[in-house]
Amino acid sequence: MLTPSNKYDAQIEALLSKMTVAEKVGQMNQYNGFWDITGPTPEQGDSKRKYEYLRQGLVGSMLNVKGVEDVRKIQELVVNESRLGIPLIFGFDVIHGQKTITPIPLGESASWDLAALEQSARVAAVEAAALGINWTFAPMIDISRDARWGRVMEGAGEDPFLVSKIGAARVRGFQGDDLSQWDTIAATAKHLVGYGFAEAGRDYNTVDVGTSTLYNVLFPPFQAAIAEKVCTVMNSFNVVNGIPATGNHFLQRDILKGTWNFEGFVISDWGSGIEMIAHGFARDLEHVAEIAANAGSDMDMESDAYASHLEGLVESGKVKMEVVDDAVRRILRVKFELGLFDDPYRYCDAEREKTYILHPDHLATALDMAKKSIVLLKNDGQLLPLKKDQSKIAVIGALADDKNSPLGSWRLGADDHSAISVLEGIEALSVPFTYAKGADVSIGPETFIEEIQINETDKSGFAEAIALAESSEVVIMVLGEHGYQSGEGRSRANLDLPGVQQELLEAVYAVNPNIVLVLMNGRPLALPWADDHIPAILECWHLGSQSGHAIAATLFGDHNPSGKLPMTFPRHVGQCPLYYNHFRTGRPGPLDLVFWSHYIDESNAPLYAFGHGLSYTHFDYSDLVIDASDQKAVKVQVKVTNTGAVGGEEVCQLYIHDKVASIVRPVKELKGFEKFYLAPGEAKVVEFTLTEAELGFYNNAYEYVVEPGEFGVMVGTSSDVGLTGTFELK
Ligand code: GLC
Repeated sequence: MLTPSNKYDAQIEALLSKMTVAEKVGQMNQYNGFWDITGPTPEQGDSKRKYEYLRQGLVGSMLNVKGVEDVRKIQELVVNESRLGIPLIFGFDVIHGQKTITPIPLGESASWDLAALEQSARVAAVEAAALGINWTFAPMIDISRDARWGRVMEGAGEDPFLVSKIGAARVRGFQGDDLSQWDTIAATAKHLVGYGFAEAGRDYNTVDVGTSTLYNVLFPPFQAAIAEKVCTVMNSFNVVNGIPATGNHFLQRDILKGTWNFEGFVISDWGSGIEMIAHGFARDLEHVAEIAANAGSDMDMESDAYASHLEGLVESGKVKMEVVDDAVRRILRVKFELGLFDDPYRYCDAEREKTYILHPDHLATALDMAKKSIVLLKNDGQLLPLKKDQSKIAVIGALADDKNSPLGSWRLGADDHSAISVLEGIEALSVPFTYAKGADVSIGPETFIEEIQINETDKSGFAEAIALAESSEVVIMVLGEHGYQSGEGRSRANLDLPGVQQELLEAVYAVNPNIVLVLMNGRPLALPWADDHIPAILECWHLGSQSGHAIAATLFGDHNPSGKLPMTFPRHVGQCPLYYNHFRTGRPGPLDLVFWSHYIDESNAPLYAFGHGLSYTHFDYSDLVIDASDQKAVKVQVKVTNTGAVGGEEVCQLYIHDKVASIVRPVKELKGFEKFYLAPGEAKVVEFTLTEAELGFYNNAYEYVVEPGEFGVMVGTSSDVGLTGTFELK
């Protein structure tokens, strides 16, 4: 984490005093890795211009430079040829692993296991650092309530308390406790702010949220990351109160660097600066540079606004030198913290790649994280776990044989098709089965930048799959989304099974209802038919490199699922945005007449609630005790007993409801959780303490307050099942 701010001040000031305006502006400029760096020097075009800028010390950072050799080559160019030799910082989207890929962040978040989440980020940091990277653009801590938005896969769901805890754990994992070590990297809290509230779940769309939602829902995860000393913050593409985040003085100076006293630096999102022209907020690139610099966006990712105009703006006085100096101090400080001035090549040891990339311990971490991310949504008749000597098992669905989708869409550093598939996972258990694809999910190219094409017509494999199902005793169907159907630029207007998969599911069910549905998806899906008909459903997200082993272990009982949903699953896409911590409204209903808040053609209820997740055993809740005698520390106790025949992990969840307050408060708010293992018959008394940190909120004057009155309490296994009670704050 960032050390106390005085540690490098003298060195920073000494360096700053030597820098020309052009060199200062250079530190605020970031370019994408743009040529075959080990190849010949670029002779023309954009690559040549960027190459020359590097040589002249007019670039502060690069992103997407892959491999120690390339990083070293660019670093040597800057350190040896520029006047002051200020080392570059190399950034990369290490979102959920580098080479060893862990589950997509929404999947990891379903573990509610903060230690495991931190370890997962630690492994990602070691592999990224071994490849020359010293800065990741993660964790993404955008609250997201709308499953249509493609980037829900990248976050930690809908709840500010859970997202705050998870974001802080991931920052700890990336940054460790000593940034100067070669295997720790700077983290980025992103995207400030509200990107996940894009209207209609459509990526890059308008965001329009009230200030109370800013303070009480969207800000807390960033405050938690800053408390964890996150090195950088990335601003977002969207407007906030009509002003693009990159040019938003309120967000970046008043709140982030002012109220929150953030000491790191702000990186723009890719081109978010120049996009202010499209927004209709900046006239031209020079105006972009003026607005963004004055608003507190310290480093410009790929807009070329600062490189092109900032020096002139300083000369004209439109941007004061102290604005530039502040940005450069912040950037230099992170570079000092990372040890790049002590040794610009600290991250450039080619031997590490052989030692650390895909290390067995990393694969073990990925497997552990994958298992913990799986959520048992339904298990009627205890169909799961299957027995390993179960005869006549059919496995149906293209995703069962897909080694690419489990990597998700943010896997820029991984090798395509490198995940363990479900078929390989079951084979590794020596459990006999017969496979039939049934139908392709996607057709055509599978790349990060192109639209994935979904098979909407080809059912030529149905007959084989149906015949196999008919002759089998149990059918494992692996259905869901291709890995490139979620992520950036991948919003959906529907939340059903893509393509012809629903038809395949119903056709197989018609001949054999004994189905275990394994879902692979990057967002909540709306699957009411499946919930009505299919006896057992496992939510398996995109689980990363070890996907197949984790799924097989769970299917056949070597692992007892413990995941809990970090995001509500709707019954229908028309309910979106749908989330548990909603306000009551003035007409919560239900009423006999139509005049209450509801649909005439759908329930208000979710298909699966936030915090939902079953186990192969059962946890009984009893003996709820609430002690408010100490009004500053209200104690809540509950007894949890494993009443089943197998051991398992439970996530005990504590929710409050501030029933009457100076602004309306959610009907429920997660304010505590604890994950623990219980052996069969074992019981545990879980105790939570509610202090002002949990009971307060930002009022209409944006002051943090705790108000007197009655509070509801619920403690249980999900946001919709638990023991309830109340207490009074005087
Ligand atoms: C992308 C994303 C951002 C990412 C950056 C660099 O557009 O919005 O999250 O870190 O560009 O790839």
